[in-house]
Amino acid sequence: MKQVVHDLDILPSAPTAEEKAACDLPRITEERNTGKQRKLYIESYGCQMNFSDSEIVMSILTQEGFDTTSTPDNADVILLNTCSIRDNAEQKVRHRLVHFKGLKRNKPSMIVGMLGCMAERLKAQLLEEEKIVDMVVGPDAYRDLPNLIQEVDSGHKAVNVFLSREETYADINPLRLSGDGVSAFVSIMRGCDNMCSFCVVPYTRGRERSRDVHSILNEVKELVANGYKEVTLLGQNVDSYKWSAEDAGEHVNFAQLLERVALVDTTLRVRFSTSHPKDITDEVLYTMKKYDNICNSIHLPAQSGNTRILELMNRTYTREWYMERITKIREILGDDCGISSDTIAGFCSETEEEHQDTLSLIQFARFDFGYQFVYSERPGTPAAKKLADDIPEDVKQRRLSEIITVQRQLSLEHNQAQIGTIQKILIEGVSKKSENDLKGRNSRNMMAIFPKKNYTKGQYVDVLITGCSGGTLFGEIVEKV
Ligand code: SAH
Ligand code: SF4
Ligand code: F3S
Repeated sequence: MKQVVHDLDILPSAPTAEEKAACDLPRITEERNTGKQRKLYIESYGCQMNFSDSEIVMSILTQEGFDTTSTPDNADVILLNTCSIRDNAEQKVRHRLVHFKGLKRNKPSMIVGMLGCMAERLKAQLLEEEKIVDMVVGPDAYRDLPNLIQEVDSGHKAVNVFLSREETYADINPLRLSGDGVSAFVSIMRGCDNMCSFCVVPYTRGRERSRDVHSILNEVKELVANGYKEVTLLGQNVDSYKWSAEDAGEHVNFAQLLERVALVDTTLRVRFSTSHPKDITDEVLYTMKKYDNICNSIHLPAQSGNTRILELMNRTYTREWYMERITKIREILGDDCGISSDTIAGFCSETEEEHQDTLSLIQFARFDFGYQFVYSERPGTPAAKKLADDIPEDVKQRRLSEIITVQRQLSLEHNQAQIGTIQKILIEGVSKKSENDLKGRNSRNMMAIFPKKNYTKGQYVDVLITGCSGGTLFGEIVEKV
């Protein structure tokens, strides 16, 4: 089985060599040979949510007669779990299909299926546009995959893009065939009700719904039992997590969920993503403060630093509101809490002064790192319907590079400030650059590289930071006495 994560269009401002390698190279899972009849191969594009969904798909299909392969040439079924967030994300998948066309020529029985957000956005139209595609399956229809594959086996094309109000795959234990065995994603909710005007997600992922707290806790407990040391709770807007028991006796919000996950095991690191500036509460911040194992790291996408643009984006907060949230985070959690952001350059009608507001907000917030994008109009979104995509491409690119420059400098300063400190690092594995070095992160999500000694992945070590680059800390393990 090969699990490939293509995330090239989601590069942080100052990617480390490790991160670059992770983006450029396919993420490969082990082959799984349990004597099943057919072989499955999946490639995942886009966000962590999609990656997490591929683990659910693998879980469903390995119970239905499939083993997994790391080579598309050996596959009977090839699935592409796709992303629609920007036009280039879709183009990447279309190019990939050209490659699979060649494979299918030599093996006509091979099934090619499109999953995920692009499947949901384009629906049956994809079958017209890309003749090689046999099956189109939206993010809420993965339970139907065995039937859909059967349909294709019997000579038909198959489509299921039904969006559900209830589906959370709560009872399905994701099959984690890739990754490091140390850190796992746990999906806590699906969909999004926010309707930011630029964003395709509400159309591709449907209405927001929260997963049963007990199924989340069970999954986390099982991960701990299997040796995992870190979980990242995933949702498009984790702060609006809200779950009640049928009999209404139990109500759980995000802060309470966070606390319950943190209490599963105090040596388990807990992260979460993504927080929405309009929804992140002081209760969440105080919960983070209360538990050492909840990491000091908040991804709080600002998108823009200008109130008029934020309004056009329908983000429902102002520049001042965002600044107040940053001040509150610093007040409650101190300077040790890393904050990161997403920024869109060149949104509809953005002026130079408004772009300057974005730069000054980044300076104010002093983000640890950021993901920056140029605005890409997505068909069917409110912005595409009502606003002109009127900033010339060269201006968008110039603004993007100005944002990246400011952020790179901040990232470097944050890293430099760690020199001379001792950081508690969770070892994630061997460094890609050198077999003699290990890599891991501190609580605020900074990557560190250090000589191996006798340590191995999954262990916590104290590392004295002795140097840094813009994206990586370098150091030495300090032996405990
Ligand atoms: N739910 C998260 C982000 C989801 S998408 C949130 O609300 O922040 C990840 C990022 O992609 C967004 O934060 C935004 O910066 C970017 N993005 C979304 N739509 C985009 C578009 N049409 N053009 C460019 N960037 C976009
Ligand atoms: Fe998209 Fe906004 Fe929802 Fe994030 S919160 S997924 S940007 S609509
Ligand atoms: Fe892309 Fe869908 Fe995620 S559009 S970013 S894969 S929710």
